[in-house]
Amino acid sequence: MNDAEVVLVTGASYGLGSEIAKHFAARALKLGRDLVLVLTARSEERLRAVAAEIQLPGVRTQVIAADLESTEDRRRIADTVLNSHGRIDVFISNAALSPFRLFEDLSVDEIDSILIANALAPLSLCRSFLPSMIARGRGAIVLNASMAGKYGLPFNAAYSASKGALILWAQAMQSELRGTGVGVRVICPMSISRVGVSARGGQKTPWILGEVTPERVCQAIYRAAHGGPLEVVISKWPIRPLLAAVQLIPALGPAAVRWLGVTKMYAAIGRPSRTLVSGRRTGEPRLPPAPREPDTGRRPGGKIGRSIDGSEGGRTLE
Ligand SMILES: NC(=O)c1ccc[n+]([C@@H]2O[C@H](COP(=O)([O-])OP(=O)(O)OC[C@H]3O[C@@H](n4cnc5c(N)ncnc54)[C@H](OP(=O)(O)O)[C@@H]3O)[C@@H](O)[C@H]2O)c1
Repeated sequence: MNDAEVVLVTGASYGLGSEIAKHFAARALKLGRDLVLVLTARSEERLRAVAAEIQLPGVRTQVIAADLESTEDRRRIADTVLNSHGRIDVFISNAALSPFRLFEDLSVDEIDSILIANALAPLSLCRSFLPSMIARGRGAIVLNASMAGKYGLPFNAAYSASKGALILWAQAMQSELRGTGVGVRVICPMSISRVGVSARGGQKTPWILGEVTPERVCQAIYRAAHGGPLEVVISKWPIRPLLAAVQLIPALGPAAVRWLGVTKMYAAIGRPSRTLVSGRRTGEPRLPPAPREPDTGRRPGGKIGRSIDGSEGGRTLE
């Protein structure tokens, strides 16, 4: 299996991650390609159960039980993959913590966990794998983000922040990796049906919001591992016009979130400690207008940030 494709999937013990692993195995079998699937998550027993389901000719599985919140475990994942196989072809960052709760209902430790597992860990693993990918002139990084990374969603504040970080990182890396043969792609799915955290939440996703099937997301991830655009948004209905509108007119965002039924759906799952204000009322007190600066007669001129006599904030610039 020397020319087998080596693929690491995080969060492969259940939910979408185990579906991704099975999808890669099925594709390898269909295309007659050898594949080494490295599956990681915390629960070894579940990982072994997933590996046992993937008993296909030409497909070898390796299980690494590890906690992405642990620096030592992340190092062990990277070392195990690179030492066992001498390379990594595809890194699929899929593991995530996704509690649907009000930000204030999360403990400080839980917020740390979300940001470490969802954002810091994938970036730190990328840092471990990139030098060998760049040296070989090939490799792909696929980050499973979320629609919540495209627009911050209520009951998902820390989660949205972690997913948004992945998207921005991928954008920056696309420029840094140009010409290296290494690709970076980010997947932004809407609510996924049947498997994963939204399905476990037990709430019906509003029709207008729409769900996407795990098969569609797995196909997108498989394609992204082998080429394609930086960002793949996966939604039932075309969502980019709405995202563009919210970028142009940010005040539309909260209304769109309510109108699509996101707040209601996540409130039902998240059992918040207080009720969120609905409708147009924001509850924010009206503040008096800011006092005007006295007119000193000076007008800006010359370089940005300097007043005409060259002073700035009491300090003379050289
Ligand atoms: N489900 C959706 O509707 C949806 C929508 C958009 C995006 N996504 C994204 O799709 C991905 C998969 O979501 P999912 O719904 O399948 O999630 P899930 O069912 O909750 O599974 C999460 C996976 O991550 C692993 N994991 C969690 N914390 C970990 C840690 N500290 N260290 C190592 N592994 C850890 C879990 O395994 P262990 O517990 O065994 O560690 C599990 O395998 C996530 O990135 C999610 O943000 C999901």
